[in-house]
Formats: sequence, structure tokens, C-alpha cells
Amino acid sequence: MVIFRDYKLYKFIRLITFLSFISCSEVNQSSVSKTSELRTIQEIYTQACAFCHDRGMAGAPIYANTYSWGQRVDKGIDTLTYNVKYGLNAMPAMGLCADCTDEELRAVVKHMLDSLD
Ligand code: HEC
Repeated sequence: MVIFRDYKLYKFIRLITFLSFISCSEVNQSSVSKTSELRTIQEIYTQACAFCHDRGMAGAPIYANTYSWGQRVDKGIDTLTYNVKYGLNAMPAMGLCADCTDEELRAVVKHMLDSLD
């Protein structure tokens, strides 16, 4: 009888372990998608672009500095976003945002263009 009760306990513990595993992975998944949904364009800029674009690193056009952008603005947002996605000379492809979507990249470029006079 004791063995039988232990076996039931064993099955019970296995069930609890299994359930907590499921609920943990659910929590993790929802928090992952939450962070990507909640990350703002400003946050992407700060994390992935500001390092170079706040100070004009290696000739990068500077945020909110129209002069430093020169003729680049005339390329239009499509070409600019393309160059961010695939890289341009000293700028690495996608800046430092390896997991950015095309929409996010475009929105960050727009954010930079909006900062200009
Ligand atoms: C490691 C430094 C670095 C990072 C990080 C970086 N850039 Fe750049 N970026 C540059 C440099 C340097 C240039 C100038 C490239 C050239 O014209 O030779 C540039 C150019 C650009 C241009 C103008 C492209 C063109 O066609 O003239 C845009 C738009 C741009 N970056 C957006 C971004 C965005 C958006 C991010 C973040 C997702 C980013 N950059 C991250 C260095 C960087």
C-alpha cells in the first residue's frame, strides 16, 4: 500500500512539475512578445543608432543636425531605409538592431528625419 501511495505521489509531482513548466514557458513567451511590442521607436534609436548618430561617429549624419545630413534627405525615406537595412560604408546593416523589422527601421529613419528642420 505504501508503494502504491508513493507512486500516486510520484505521478502527482510529475504533473505539478509538468504544469509549472508549461506555465513558466507561457509567462516567458508573453513577456518576450510584450517587450518587442512595447519597445518604442525612441528606444530603438537610443539603443541601436544613437551611439553613432548622436555624435557623428565615422561621418554619420547627426540627429537633429540638418547641416550634417546635407543632400541625404533628398534620397527619400525608401532609399534611406534600404541603406540602413543593408548597410552603407561604415554603417553596419540594420545599425545595431539585428531584430528590427522593416517597419521599425523605416519608423526610426522617419524619427531621425523628423528631428531635422
Ligand atoms: C556604428 C555606427 C552606426 C550605427 C550604430 C548606425 N549608423 Fe547610421 N550611419 C553611420 C554612418 C558612418 C553613416 C554614413 C555612411 C556613409 O554615407 O558613408 C550612416 C548613415 C545613415 C543614414 C543615411 C544613409 C544614406 O543613404 O545616406 C541613415 C538614414 C542612418 N544611418 C540611419 C541609422 C539608423 C536608423 C540606425 C539604427 C537602427 C543607424 N543608422 C545606426 C553609422 C552608424
